[in-house]
Amino acid sequence: LSLSFSLLLLSNLAAVILAADRFSRGDFPPGFVFGSGTSAYQVEGAADQEGRKPSIWDTFAHEGKVHGDNADITCDQYHKYKEDVQLMVDTGLEAYRFSISWSRLIPNGRGPVNPKGLQYYNNLINELISNGIQPHVTLHHNDLPQALEDEYGGWINRKIVKDFTTYANVCFKNFGDRVSHWTTVNEANVFVLAGYDGGYLPPQHCSSPFGFNCTRGNSSTEPYLAAHHILLAHASAAVLYKEKYQDKQHGFIGINLFAFWIVPLTNTTEDAIASQRAMDFMIGWYVNPLMYGDYPDVMKRNVGTRLPTFTNLESNQVKGSIDFLGVNYYLTVYVKDDSSKLEMELRNFDADMAVDITLAVTQKDMSSSEVRECTLNCRDASLNQFSITPWGLQGLLEYFKQVYGNPPIYIYENGQETQRNSSLEDWPRVKYLQGYIGALLDALRNGSNTRGYFQWSFLDVFEMDGYESGFGLYYVDLDDPDLKRQPKLSARWYKHFLTGEGVHS
Ligand code: NOJ
Repeated sequence: LSLSFSLLLLSNLAAVILAADRFSRGDFPPGFVFGSGTSAYQVEGAADQEGRKPSIWDTFAHEGKVHGDNADITCDQYHKYKEDVQLMVDTGLEAYRFSISWSRLIPNGRGPVNPKGLQYYNNLINELISNGIQPHVTLHHNDLPQALEDEYGGWINRKIVKDFTTYANVCFKNFGDRVSHWTTVNEANVFVLAGYDGGYLPPQHCSSPFGFNCTRGNSSTEPYLAAHHILLAHASAAVLYKEKYQDKQHGFIGINLFAFWIVPLTNTTEDAIASQRAMDFMIGWYVNPLMYGDYPDVMKRNVGTRLPTFTNLESNQVKGSIDFLGVNYYLTVYVKDDSSKLEMELRNFDADMAVDITLAVTQKDMSSSEVRECTLNCRDASLNQFSITPWGLQGLLEYFKQVYGNPPIYIYENGQETQRNSSLEDWPRVKYLQGYIGALLDALRNGSNTRGYFQWSFLDVFEMDGYESGFGLYYVDLDDPDLKRQPKLSARWYKHFLTGEGVHS
């Protein structure tokens, strides 16, 4: 195909998908913000430059645990932030979600602040602001300084609360005049499940008998302890922000959770109860303390004395400590009651939840009941289907509305994974974004208090599987010495949605 013919073909195809949109940017409420995100370890590179020291992710990657890949260089946003901010402007982004590398700012986790780290984040924030893009900043995106892990065991030691608060204070003090949205911890629930239960992500402790390379701990208490310390650290930073900074800086502080939408696999009462239990173990674990000051009753019953308790003072600090909730939503799962899990000798998280989780297998445009039917009966036939369940996002937002009184929410991650070197014409990602943004609009029309949507991820960053797959709007050519960024069709689609401008500029 000649280049011009290919472009013509592409523009026709693009016209078809754009015509399929049943909504536009203008349909969203005033103040609603659209953006995209990355995180420090996944995008920055410059891993050992200008004073940065390793995080637990550097250690994990350098032990060869991520297909032998690491993020020493990755997209090199550390040096290319100006170019990336221009790309954001070109794409029409209104906000950018990124995280601060704690071990770049405070290399040993506590102690002296690295002036080069301060300078980098000041530069990035200034570049965003001067281009009219709101910074949404996360303080801990899975990358605890290795020094704190080595010194006292990181998140399983209560000392982390003080060190995290001191780090947060450095951030509020230096950047808070320009940052109005702070997230303390990214995917607090997945971080402890993968890092202290399953053991397949750093720091690789595990309580699960199925844990991958379970060499660094084996306690069914640790996931609950780490989560408890995350809640206390979050609350301590939030109290500090509210007492010392919020009046002057007028910002907001929240925490971020990963959330499936969970549906009972069958119509039995057992599966309905199991689904509620799974929601309580996944979401209520954090949101109940944040809203009501204590863990859900079902967790107290099933986990018993392994679940830490809050003192009155702690409970009062944690309760009400979020101005908003960050939610990372990707997919829907079906849940089946499995009481045998309570009898397992090693009581891992699943055992305490006593549920069996099945990923929703979907074919395009299937309704919730059709997906359930297929999940029960046509697993093999649908192995290659994409799991796109936009109605799941609506279900989840409705749940937050009904169960937790409709708190302000930012969808901080939502996106489609594809093979990294697959076509730049990433139709599955475009379909995914169309589906979920449309579902979000429906949820808003039904009264959801969601305030923003951030596609994951802006670039093809270093992922959980290294560089094998990507979620990016932009492909990053790792073989090119300049790490050239190339727009995918999804970048053009998002730009058209956000700005109304042509899809192939
Ligand atoms: C969750 C994490 O927050 C992010 O770091 C990761 O890259 C994406 N989801 C995709 O797996």
